Amino acid sequence: MEKIVIEGQVPLRGKVRCEGAKNAALPIMAATLLCEEPCILSGVPPLKDVETMSRVLCSIGLDVRIEDGTISVRQRGPLGLEPPYEAVRAMRASFLVLGPLLCRLGAARIPLPGGCDIGQRPVDLHLKGLQAMGASIELKGGYVEAKARRLSGATIYLDFPSVGATENLMMAASQAFGETIIENAAQEPEVVDLANFLNTIGANVRGAGTSRIRITGRRGFGGGEYTIIPDRLEAATYLLAGIATGGSIRVENVIPEHLTAFLAKIQEAGAEVSTGLRYVAASMEGRANPVTVKTLPYPGFPTDLQAPIMSFLATARGTSIIIESVFERRFAHVEELNRMGAKIRAEGSHAVIEGVEELTGASVEASDLRAGAALVLAGLQARGRTEVSGVSHIKRGYYQLVEKLKRVGARIEVRCEENA
Ligand code: EPZ
Repeated sequence: MEKIVIEGQVPLRGKVRCEGAKNAALPIMAATLLCEEPCILSGVPPLKDVETMSRVLCSIGLDVRIEDGTISVRQRGPLGLEPPYEAVRAMRASFLVLGPLLCRLGAARIPLPGGCDIGQRPVDLHLKGLQAMGASIELKGGYVEAKARRLSGATIYLDFPSVGATENLMMAASQAFGETIIENAAQEPEVVDLANFLNTIGANVRGAGTSRIRITGRRGFGGGEYTIIPDRLEAATYLLAGIATGGSIRVENVIPEHLTAFLAKIQEAGAEVSTGLRYVAASMEGRANPVTVKTLPYPGFPTDLQAPIMSFLATARGTSIIIESVFERRFAHVEELNRMGAKIRAEGSHAVIEGVEELTGASVEASDLRAGAALVLAGLQARGRTEVSGVSHIKRGYYQLVEKLKRVGARIEVRCEENA
């Protein structure tokens, strides 16, 4: 089993280049099912989740070739309506093939994605929206069986601005008959990136990035070339590595506007931040000021940065509060941080973080990719050695995390433990 081993308390200094956004690449790869001509996607992060999505697409009739961050996709034969069970269970984003398959085939049979460590993660909003567009949906033996001769436009109100539901419904509406309006839509940059890709291949999507998205259905999409936006979550993770160790990190290939809530929060905590066209730099000396963080749908503070910023606040000069309002169970990292000497109490959606002088290295376990990143950040600032297991989670969302941290001074490596 692999472990990440860190000798902490080295101030990290230097530049880190970010990859393309995982959470933009995955829905856009699903959207290539809508294309009747070949597509070329650039800036795709070389991650395990991208390989999983590629496997899903190949299993239902696409030919997907990945080379140096570029993916070429073309339809190689008739499309299948059922992606492999293990791929959907392994990665929730596989569920995003539902909308495109309904458009192309008028039917789809998709395993219900399971819950995971951060919550139950239902798909009721996806299904309710598709039913509003005329799809018949049946749940049978853990599968979603969907049928629709041709989807019709509808006005859909999302009870929660779900990223995945917005994406699935936007793709389904792109070839529906008539106009669809999605109210209370998710506004994440990755949703905007998907809309921009859809418009590149022939769709008519307006209003992405606001809470009201209007889609006029069209048929016969072509192909095209598209470059994925940079990964704001990866960028923020490296900025936190710099300020949590009392160093100075500049991340390149990032869109600063995608990080507004996060940058405001770390500045409130005492970090020095500077931004340019495609870079953000952050530095800090000494301990952070305590702050209150409430995770919200974009443009609020991202839930995917909740665990990472909690590591940073574990050694603040006072007590911080984190309120997780997006997922119902996203505090698995609290126990692991407390094993490193943190003083954190999680109750319901609230975590109270009483800042300590310093953390001490320990053996800890990552339960999901963002919790894994948080534990690496904790190890970088802790006295002594930290061993993080559950490395496979981390590799889902961070390309060459260890190599990139090494390049800015971290004493970090991956170790394989035979008997572990
Ligand atoms: C996307 O997941 C991201 N994944 C997640 O990132 C991210 O944490 C999440 O959005 C929130 O920003 C990808 O983009 C591949 P949601 P998604 O639907 O679409 C509830 C990472 O670390 N909900 O916005 O699954 C749900 O239970 C991952 O990269 C319903 O109730 O998130 C949750 O509480 C983790 N019914 C909330 O909405 C539904 O039908 C937000 O979920 C759908 C969602």
